[in-house]
Amino acid sequence: MDKVIIFDTTLRDGEQAAGGTLNLQEKLEIARQLEKLGVDIIEAGFPVSSPGDFEAVRLIAKEICTPIICGLARAVPQDIDRAWEAIKEAKHPRIHVFISASDIHLGYQLKKSREEVLQTAREMVARAKNYTEDVEFSPMDASRTEPGYIYQILEAVIDAGATTVNIPDTVGYAMPDEFGGLIEGIFQKVPNINRAVVSVHCHNDLGLAVANSLESVWRGARQVECTINGIGERAGNASLEEIVMAIKTRQDFLNLTTSIDTKQIYKTSRLVSELTGFTVQPNKAIVGANAFRHESGIHQDGVIKMPITYEIMDPRTVGIPASSLVLGKLSGRHAFAERLAELGYSLSGEDLNRAFAAFKELADKKRKVTDRDIESLIAEELRASSEVYHLDRLQVSCGDRGIPTAAVRLVTPDGRVIADAALGTGPVDAVCKAINRLIDVPNVLTEFTVKSVTEGIDAIGEVLIRIESEGVTYTGRGADTDIIVSSAKAYINALNRLLAAKKMAG
Ligand code: KIV
Ligand code: ZN
Repeated sequence: MDKVIIFDTTLRDGEQAAGGTLNLQEKLEIARQLEKLGVDIIEAGFPVSSPGDFEAVRLIAKEICTPIICGLARAVPQDIDRAWEAIKEAKHPRIHVFISASDIHLGYQLKKSREEVLQTAREMVARAKNYTEDVEFSPMDASRTEPGYIYQILEAVIDAGATTVNIPDTVGYAMPDEFGGLIEGIFQKVPNINRAVVSVHCHNDLGLAVANSLESVWRGARQVECTINGIGERAGNASLEEIVMAIKTRQDFLNLTTSIDTKQIYKTSRLVSELTGFTVQPNKAIVGANAFRHESGIHQDGVIKMPITYEIMDPRTVGIPASSLVLGKLSGRHAFAERLAELGYSLSGEDLNRAFAAFKELADKKRKVTDRDIESLIAEELRASSEVYHLDRLQVSCGDRGIPTAAVRLVTPDGRVIADAALGTGPVDAVCKAINRLIDVPNVLTEFTVKSVTEGIDAIGEVLIRIESEGVTYTGRGADTDIIVSSAKAYINALNRLLAAKKMAG
């Protein structure tokens, strides 16, 4: 059985999604989880694009051992040199060089002829090859490029040393049969194609990214570029979990395999959603909250009698915990630790103590503590461990007659306790204004959402806040059974991330 190489670009194309900025530690945390998931390649970023991206790629290259670490570069010397600087300490480094290929891009954007682009592609692949054996090349907007020209460029870059040639459907325009035809044509018309791996990179503008990727592997492509939860530029990229599970579930049809440990899928999906702030839609295949939920009586009856009647995959294969065991205030530390381990968290020592204390506090407020509550609680603990400013106390008064007022007390990075109060149009507005009086960083709040983690009036409320400062968006999250407290935590979390990014930029 042939193996399909899984090239994960969550940290590069995924992070390009509007509002999805991640900080250094978050990128490293995701990279660590991607390694556990078993991806073959991590595209860690676009080093020339910003000092933050460069640092993240460099750190990931140093820390992550098993997968190939890839840095993206335009076909210009400065990008390639910078990409190499960032990945040179990786055990397995790769440089990914790209240049536009379609006449639309050449005419309107690059203002270069096909000959010039072909020459640049050849030279820049050769430049990358001087640094590393492993060079990938992408002719951007390939699906809207005349196939004959694609064949020519691919032949030239393979001669110059490209070991992977990636065919992007950059604007998500292709139809599966058409895109599959392009891949088949490449195998037939590029004379040296047996010296390179053929890869595909599909965007989801027409909702066809996964279909186009699967059609391509069916026609011989052996690398797929994808992201966790399908996040990415505009409508996103092909979703890793959907591709991997389609290959696994329909092995009878495709006769292919991947090296993904599918039991890590759910945890990876939750982590990426948590850190990027992009919620997974409930009906999302594989990882959505309803993906394995049966509502209709007939379906429930069938699943009880024999799961295969309406379930084509066992939820445990993707790491969704089998039992829906519920913990409560009488549950001990041992039961809590066991549940954490089943959910894929390995906490010990002080981290476990803090998480257990937070669990006990929650169990006092809420009769039943579910897996989702525990996940939310752990995420809150992780956020708290990297805080700059910390919420100490919060008091709010509001109602239809009163003037919404908030008093806030914070602990500063150097341990001082500071407090202030403000009036607002509502309690959340008053809280944000009071916090602004204490942490004075100009910003605009662009998004505010509240969502309950579970059913029931006593549920934890998760708040997501996005703020914008100097054209950059920062996401903050907070969770508590009191949604005003969640809002304060989320706003402080967003400000903490803004401050950390500014500090790093110097
Ligand atoms: O969508 C695209 O064309 C890309 C390239 C850089 C591969 O992301
Ligand atoms: Zn892309």
